[in-house]
Order: sequence, then C-alpha cells, then structure tokens
Amino acid sequence: MRSQQDLAKDWALSQEVSVLIYARIGSVMKIAIGGKGGVGKTILAAILAKTFAESGYSVIAIDADPDGNLAATLSFPRPEKITPISEMSALIEERTGTPPGKTGGFFKLNPKVDDLPDKYSQEHNGIKLMIMGRLKRGGSGCYCPENALLKALVTHLLLARDEVVILDMEAGIEHLGRATAKAVDKLIIVTEPGRRSVDSAYKVNELAKDIGIQNIAVVGNKIRSPEDKEFLISSLPSFEFLGFIPYDQAILDADLANLPLVDASQQINREVRNIYQALLAASGTEHNKRQKANIA
Ligand SMILES: Nc1ncnc2c1ncn2[C@@H]1O[C@H](COP(=O)(O)OP(=O)(O)O)[C@@H](O)[C@H]1O
Ligand SMILES: [Mg+2]
Repeated sequence: MRSQQDLAKDWALSQEVSVLIYARIGSVMKIAIGGKGGVGKTILAAILAKTFAESGYSVIAIDADPDGNLAATLSFPRPEKITPISEMSALIEERTGTPPGKTGGFFKLNPKVDDLPDKYSQEHNGIKLMIMGRLKRGGSGCYCPENALLKALVTHLLLARDEVVILDMEAGIEHLGRATAKAVDKLIIVTEPGRRSVDSAYKVNELAKDIGIQNIAVVGNKIRSPEDKEFLISSLPSFEFLGFIPYDQAILDADLANLPLVDASQQINREVRNIYQALLAASGTEHNKRQKANIA
C-alpha cells in the first residue's frame, strides 16, 4: 500500500510532467497578481483586464482569491450566482473519478480540463471570467480531488490558452506551483504604503522564488503623496516597480453608489494603462531575448 506522501509526490510529479506535455502554446501574456488582502489586487486585475480587452486582446480573468470579488468589480450581472469551480461537486467527481472531500483514495492525477474554460467561463464586456474558489488546505499540500482539478485547470490556463490570462490571487499564491512558474510572464505584487503590506510583499516574493518564478515586479497602490511613493521605494529597494497608482476617493464613491469601479477614476485608469504598456514592453524584451537565445 503506497503512503499518502508517495501519492502526493506522484501528484507533484504529474504536475511537472504536464508542463512537458503541453509545452507552452500560448504566446500571449500570463499575469499573476498577489499581495496582502485589501491592497488593490482586484481593482488592478479588473482594470488591466479591461485595458487588454479594449486593446483588442482576448482576455480571461481568473478569480483565484477565495475572498475575491472580481466578478462584481468587473460589473458582471448577479456575480453571487456564479458557482466557483471548487464547489462543482459533480464536475469534480466526473473528472477525477472521486467525489470532493475524499482524501487518500485514488483519483486521476491529470484530469481532463481543456474544455472547462469555454464551458464554465462567463463573458461580460468582452472579458471572460472564471471563479476558482477555495483550495483545500492540509498536510502534503492537500492531496484531494478538488485541488487536483483546480491545479490542473490553472496549469492549463497558464500553459495552453492562447489569450491573455490575468490571475487575481490571494497573498499565499497557492494556485501556482513549480509546474506553472515558467508560464507566468509577470507576478505583480501589489503594495500600499504601510508596513504590513511591505512585509507581505517580501513573503510573496519568497514564496514565488521558492517555486521558481523569476519575473516579479511591484505596483504601489493608494499613493497619496510623494512621501508614500518614497516610502515604498525605500522599503523595497531590490524590487522592480511597474508603476504607482494614486489613491482616489472616486473608487469608494463609485462603490457606495453601486457604479462600475473600472470606470470610476480616470487618473487610476491612466496609470494602469502605463502599467499595461510597461508589461508589453517587458514581454517584448523577453520575447526578443528568447529568440536571440534560440539563434545563438
Ligand atoms: N487606488 C485606490 N484608491 C482608492 N481606493 C482604492 C484604491 N485601490 C483599491 N481601493 C479600495 O480598496 C479596497 C480593496 O481593494 P481590492 O482591489 O478589493 O483589494 P484586494 O483585491 O487586494 O483585496 C476596495 O474597497 C477598493 O475600492
Ligand atoms: Mg481581491
């Protein structure tokens, strides 16, 4: 009888192998967004998604934060009616061969997921959206059918979708693993001027480095003064900054008035467009670098 740990190791290995099987089809940008709760990950994810979509890209936004509100921020109608993938018990059982909640049994390590983005995403204003739901936590990285399905799905989205993927995560970046690290073109850590947000940025950075993510950058959000900007630059000296988003009360007013947050602040949208340009410029450089490396 194989131990739980052996099974968990097999699972981790299968995730690595799937990288080799997929290779990477999509050449379009894959962006992951992390940082402490409340710093502005979702607002950045939403406005970036809108910016890419308006520029003619096909975009899929993924809510991978269990406390997330990406659907509402993107003004999807009746966001509470969208069932997260982690709560689709019948689907989890159909694809993995085991009902959710059951640990230690045998289930498919690489369930079929390539049809799920089209079947289970919603579309609004030209942006597709999927809600992942909560990964189960526990020993051995929680070896269970629901996590196997979610991880396989994130791996597929990052490696095989030929469209811009924007992953709105929680601080723990649990949805990413070694298998997906190389597919992430940029991990953006959102920070606000404040000690706890800076501490959290260091933690996310360490977690990311541990799994092999190289391209990490910071966005400073809720900037009220040159001192706020200076605080972040001096607190995070070794980090690349992609941009600084001003604090704008208009976002809060729009929230209270139940108006679309992504259209609430011109100055925020202008800065997110600059971040979008910086991302494109950086990916161009990376792409050229890869091409040069292939020629050499
Ligand atoms: N630049 C900003 N100016 C004013 N309020 C902001 C700004 N960025 C985010 N907020 C507000 O802060 C709160 C948290 O933002 P959110 O994007 O949900 O953070 P996270 O996804 O990191 O938890 C929300 O109420 C949002 O409207
Ligand atoms: Mg959020």
